[in-house]
Amino acid sequence: MTGAGLSALAACTPGPAPEASKAGSSSAGPGPHADSAGSPAASGSASASNSASPSAAASASAGPPKSPSASATPSTTAAAASPSAASRLPRQFSLTDPASPWVIVNKHRPLKPANYVPADLVQPRVALAVTGEAAQLNSTTAAAAERMFAAAAADGVNITLASGYRSYATQVVTYNGWVSSQGRAAADTASARPGYSEHQTGWSFDIGDGGGACSFQPCFAEQPAAVWAKANAHRFGFVVRYPWMQHTITGYFYESWHLRYVGVEAATDMRKRGIATLEQYFGLASAPGYL
Ligand code: DAL
Ligand code: ZN
Repeated sequence: MTGAGLSALAACTPGPAPEASKAGSSSAGPGPHADSAGSPAASGSASASNSASPSAAASASAGPPKSPSASATPSTTAAAASPSAASRLPRQFSLTDPASPWVIVNKHRPLKPANYVPADLVQPRVALAVTGEAAQLNSTTAAAAERMFAAAAADGVNITLASGYRSYATQVVTYNGWVSSQGRAAADTASARPGYSEHQTGWSFDIGDGGGACSFQPCFAEQPAAVWAKANAHRFGFVVRYPWMQHTITGYFYESWHLRYVGVEAATDMRKRGIATLEQYFGLASAPGYL
């Protein structure tokens, strides 16, 4: 069971997981995070009890859409995406436009266009563990990241930018590396297929802590950087996009390092309601596999 945890490793690194991590490295990781990442069956059976309360999402669905644009473009806005917690928020953004902070990219929802490139990529002034395109984010995310990294530093927590924007072409290399190393099924639980990665939107990035021992590993979840981010990221507009035990909804095992910008309002609201995934928050279908 735990062998499948390899797929949770180094999910967002340019290359596939190190060979050494293939056999049971997740089981060697401390705590339940490592174990669950390694066990699809365990994750699946536990996901119901660990997922955000259905009633939280359901009760939140009562609020009517408040944005005129929502009713004008029902198929592309959160408020119109059937009952959703997000429909209570006064501001609505597109769920399909890759330039929208609420765009949802998952195994059912590829980027459109597939070769999308953010128009406003910039390099944030934060501690970088990478160079080139991977050190870039869209401008809104970059500004929020600067605020968050500074706040973490003020709390004595070192956070680095480990992987930011990834072009379609880079994702081809990344994903193919995973397939070569782990096989397609395992690759699909950790690395998005080209055209299906949030990294291509510029709204997402992976964090490290400058140490490296647990980078992109299950044990990163217990490191100060991840602990701090999990507790504070919402204050800067970020959510942990692939939470613990939610792979039947998100399609990916726990990535404690992968943050996604959705704005302070939505991230804080989501946390307040105890809703774990963006799919649940926006009332969208679970996306465990490709259609
Ligand atoms: N690791 C995430 C799912 C990605 O490849 O975008
Ligand atoms: Zn990532």
